[in-house]
Amino acid sequence: MLNCLITGGAGFIGSHLAEELIAESQRVTVIDDLSTGCRENLASVWSHPRFRFVEGSVFDRHLIAELLAEADEVYHLAAVVGVARVAHSAIQTIKTNLHGTLVLLEELARTAAGRQVRLLLPSSSEVYGNNPKPLWHEDDCLMFGPTTSRRWCYGLAKAVDEMLALAYWREMGLSVVVVRLFNVSGPRQSGKHGMVLPRLVEAALSGGPLTVHDDGQQVRCFVHVADVVPAMIALMRHPEAVGSVFNIGSDQPVTILELAREVAALIDPGLRVEFRQFAAQYGSNFEECTRRVPDLSRLRQTIGFAPRHTLQDIIRDVIEWTKAHAAPQQ
Ligand SMILES: NC(=O)c1ccc[n+]([C@@H]2O[C@H](COP(=O)([O-])OP(=O)(O)OC[C@H]3O[C@@H](n4cnc5c(N)ncnc54)[C@H](O)[C@@H]3O)[C@@H](O)[C@H]2O)c1
Repeated sequence: MLNCLITGGAGFIGSHLAEELIAESQRVTVIDDLSTGCRENLASVWSHPRFRFVEGSVFDRHLIAELLAEADEVYHLAAVVGVARVAHSAIQTIKTNLHGTLVLLEELARTAAGRQVRLLLPSSSEVYGNNPKPLWHEDDCLMFGPTTSRRWCYGLAKAVDEMLALAYWREMGLSVVVVRLFNVSGPRQSGKHGMVLPRLVEAALSGGPLTVHDDGQQVRCFVHVADVVPAMIALMRHPEAVGSVFNIGSDQPVTILELAREVAALIDPGLRVEFRQFAAQYGSNFEECTRRVPDLSRLRQTIGFAPRHTLQDIIRDVIEWTKAHAAPQQ
């Protein structure tokens, strides 16, 4: 039995990861400051004898050291996420995503000496910035816009996180795997912070309209959280993954306008799609990213990744969950 620590485990992906690790018969500790996550996300494991929840911050060095002392695997998911939060809280985004990771790595290097502790660091497709290549490979250049455009603070912080984690692997011998997640979606994801699919579903269930930015031709690939979680665990335990970076996602592109129409088709085909300037919502210096498709060859070669869920499955699951849990929009 492994002792697994999940930072940010009361959030969207972390709560699914906690369930999967408990189902695997591991012991799971979640630390979360509940800034966006919530206890309800962990309802199915809350009373399990192998599950423990600790309310606290990854900034709390003493608490982190205490939790790391007994951990075999650390999944560091605590972060500020979502385009709306990044646009309006750049300081918190940079602070949480950089300082939290630094505290974790420093304490891991101190407390894990002589023990086999593995760290999985979720990074993001945002690290590629606005790379114009049709498929993004892990070894591609990262192409950020200017520092005056707030959008890039999330991707830049995640890129520095990656470099830090890989430096701790090289210089301090920590066992580190970096994963770049591409538009993960599914039950429990909230549209509150700008995540596009739950936002569209919430709007559709409230009678519309479905708002897409600019002309809706931005290209994204959506992957189900239920396909991402096993891939994260497999990479965490794969000896050849240590010290490497992996894209995790789907490589089936869809435009945001097509996505909105798919959502409408499943809820009410008569719903209106409304176009809104991205700049009107997030400010003129908040750049939009036009195309984001991962090259998955490294992931396939290493763990034989083959997602089981289609885009339709993802949309249906988000609709079902939103109907059952989310308050309708006013
Ligand atoms: N969802 C996606 O599509 C996606 C894409 C790329 C990367 N990621 C990464 O995956 C990870 C999980 O994302 P998510 O979608 O589940 O987001 P989420 O917001 O649901 O989860 C993040 C969790 O971290 C917690 N948290 C924030 N600051 C904290 C702090 N200082 N101390 C302790 N906990 C703190 C929040 O309360 C929340 O529960 C993040 O690192 C994110 O950057 C997600």
